Amino acid sequence: MPILRKAMLSDAGPLAALAERTFRDTFEATNTAEDMALHCRDHYSEPIQSQEILDPGVTTLVCEHDGALIAFAQLRRDPAPLCVRATRPCEIQRLYVTSAWHGKGLAPELMRRCLAQAEEEGADQVWLGVWEHNPRAIAFYRKFGFSEVGDHIFPLGTDPQRDLIMVRPVVVRSQP
Ligand SMILES: CC(C)(COP(=O)(O)OP(=O)(O)OC[C@H]1O[C@@H](n2cnc3c(N)ncnc32)[C@H](O)[C@@H]1OP(=O)(O)O)[C@@H](O)C(=O)NCCC(=O)NCCS
Repeated sequence: MPILRKAMLSDAGPLAALAERTFRDTFEATNTAEDMALHCRDHYSEPIQSQEILDPGVTTLVCEHDGALIAFAQLRRDPAPLCVRATRPCEIQRLYVTSAWHGKGLAPELMRRCLAQAEEEGADQVWLGVWEHNPRAIAFYRKFGFSEVGDHIFPLGTDPQRDLIMVRPVVVRSQP
C-alpha cells in the first residue's frame, strides 16, 4: 500500500527526479525539446526541491510505494490571482502521479490529503492553474468540485501557455 506523508529533506533528490519524469511524461509530446529542457533545468534539481521542502510557505506531500516515490503534491500560500475570491487562499501548485498509478484511486487520495492540509492551515479557498489542453487533469479537478474562474499565462520555457484557473471552497458538503 502506498504511504502518503509530508516530504523530508532526504526526499529532495528522488522528488526532483519524480517531478521531472512526470512533467516530461505529461507534456513532452506537446512541447518542443528546447522548452522542456529549459523548464526542467529551471525547476527540477536536488537543490531546488530541497529549498521547496524547507520553504515555510510550501507544503510538499509525497507518496511512497516499495521504497520509491510515485506521486507528489505541493501546496503554496502565496497571494492568489484577483479572480480567486478568498480571504486565505491556498494554491495546489503541483499534483503529479506516475502514469502506472493513474485511475487507481491514488490521485483522489492525494487530493483529499491536500484539501485536509489546506483546511488544517486555515485556508478558505483552494485554487490551481491547469493547462487548457490537459483534459484529464481538468476532468479530475471538476470531479472534486473545482470550477473555472479565470486564466493566466504559464511560461513553459519560451512558450507562454494559457492555464485555466480553477477554484473550490476548502470545505464542501460532498466530495468523492
Ligand atoms: C491529473 C491526475 C493527477 C489525475 O489522476 P488520475 O488517477 O488520472 O485521476 P482519475 O482517474 O481519478 O480522474 C480522471 C478523470 O478524467 C477522466 N479522463 C481521462 N482521460 C480524459 C480525457 N482525455 N478527457 C476528459 N476526461 C478524461 C477519467 O475518466 C476520470 O474521470 P472518472 O473518474 O469520472 O472516470 C493524473 O492523471 C496525473 O498525474 N496526470 C499527469 C500530471 C498532471 O497532469 N497533473 C496536473 C497538472 S495541473
